[in-house]
Amino acid sequence: MKCWIVFVVSLLGLSFSRSRNCQDDFAFPSGPLQDYSYKIPHGNEPGYWTRFEEDAVGIVRRIAFGRSFYIFGKFGENSEDGEDTTITAGLYQGEELIYKTTINCSNASWENRIQNEKGDEEKILHGSLKKECKQGDDFDLILKNDNFRLANWIFNAQPLQHKVRVFDRLTNKVQNGTKAYKEGVLRPAVKIHSKPGIYNATHFRFEATGGAFFSRLAFGPCSAWPDNMDSQCQQVREWLHSRSKGNITDESLAALKKLGHPDANFTRGLGVFGNNNQVFHPKCLSLKYFDWVQETLHPDNEIQLYIGDQQNKQRAYCCCTDMRSGQVFENNPARNCRLLSDCLSISRFHCNHAFNATIGKEIFEEIDEENI
Ligand SMILES: *[C@@H]1O[C@H](CO)[C@@H](O)[C@H](O)[C@H]1NC(C)=O
Ligand SMILES: *[C@@H]1O[C@H](CO)[C@@H](O)[C@H](O)[C@H]1NC(C)=O
Ligand SMILES: *[C@@H]1O[C@H](CO)[C@@H](O)[C@H](O)[C@H]1NC(C)=O
Ligand SMILES: *[C@@H]1O[C@H](CO)[C@@H](O)[C@H](O)[C@H]1NC(C)=O
Ligand SMILES: *[C@@H]1O[C@H](CO)[C@@H](O)[C@H](O)[C@H]1NC(C)=O
Ligand SMILES: *[C@@H]1O[C@H](CO)[C@@H](O)[C@H](O)[C@H]1NC(C)=O
Ligand SMILES: *[C@@H]1O[C@H](CO)[C@@H](O)[C@H](O)[C@H]1NC(C)=O
Repeated sequence: MKCWIVFVVSLLGLSFSRSRNCQDDFAFPSGPLQDYSYKIPHGNEPGYWTRFEEDAVGIVRRIAFGRSFYIFGKFGENSEDGEDTTITAGLYQGEELIYKTTINCSNASWENRIQNEKGDEEKILHGSLKKECKQGDDFDLILKNDNFRLANWIFNAQPLQHKVRVFDRLTNKVQNGTKAYKEGVLRPAVKIHSKPGIYNATHFRFEATGGAFFSRLAFGPCSAWPDNMDSQCQQVREWLHSRSKGNITDESLAALKKLGHPDANFTRGLGVFGNNNQVFHPKCLSLKYFDWVQETLHPDNEIQLYIGDQQNKQRAYCCCTDMRSGQVFENNPARNCRLLSDCLSISRFHCNHAFNATIGKEIFEEIDEENI
């Protein structure tokens, strides 16, 4: 009996997930809720999300893996008379706060707090919401961890951060016997100097009051998007782009518009405050359908971190993909994903089983009509 329940729950999870290479992606089985504590997979193994690597000049350093937490929810009716609608989410080591954000719908504001090195809670950032919370609207909150001092909250595509730092960074490349600098590197100006480090987190907790309810959680070095966007590939691209590290100039956007390019409705992206890099956007065959071979899915800690530019470019997965949902075909990465480097050296034919001829015909006819 117990097995059966687990089976039903996991099927539910699968039917709701719309993501690529996430470690977890599930709708809350008993329905929308206001309080949840997520135990981070391998959260008590500091080495799992970070790794020691030796660079070109023999310096050993600890490198972190980018990982994202996604919460999806909706503003519904107020649970209790007059209670303010708020959303709070944070990383914790056990009960110890690392970094949290609080979104306050009553005055459309947000603020972020850490536990500082003295052990006190400290407000480090605050601002106003660009879009008010509205009953009936969906919302999403993302936390992206990029390195030991870099973690960005993104609420409905708004970065809960400001100010960019520009600096020259020492690289691993040796030129003329000395290490070279990379000029003009951009990062968020505010670093997260919390007492337990970001990668010491064991739990991701979130709670809401008033009319905010959570319905789904996704986690991993991955991309996830709302679950009501099947056969809307271009909309998924836009959704991911508006939360991404893209930083498109106004000139480039104008050029896309002039061309009538499908990406012409893109926003600029969030630059250094964004979630994933633009290379991880899904590729579309038409406004509706996903390409059945997706060449760059976000890498994870299963893929060795190679030193050297040539190989770094190939740190991604290449996966046969469901043309309607955009997920890895049959949710079976073991059969459908390989390393990008392997994928580039063989043809697209290894994904033939994921090609849907009915959809292929529909796309072909659309193209034909446009050309008449
Ligand atoms: C939210 O803002 C309202 C109005 O300023 C304030 O009364 C309330 O205390 C705030 N709630 C939180 C959790 O900060
Ligand atoms: C909202 O209310 C909170 C709590 O009263 C206050 O700290 C914050 O400054 C207010 N923010 C805005 C944008 O009004
Ligand atoms: C290396 O040194 C040589 C001779 O001083 C110089 O001409 C060259 O521009 C230098 N290269 C770089 C990349 O700095
Ligand atoms: C956090 O993890 C690092 C290893 O990544 C470890 O050296 C450090 O002691 C941990 N800090 C705490 C407060 O647990
Ligand atoms: C871009 O937005 C316009 C106006 O909302 C819409 O008519 C058009 O279909 C959109 N283009 C794409 C490719 O989604
Ligand atoms: C976007 O790029 C511009 C030009 O390099 C830079 O000035 C700006 O700070 C960037 N913004 C973000 C948020 O990364
Ligand atoms: C192919 O796509 C069509 C149209 O969306 C769908 O009805 C059909 O079930 C799909 N075929 C397979 C084998 O998935």
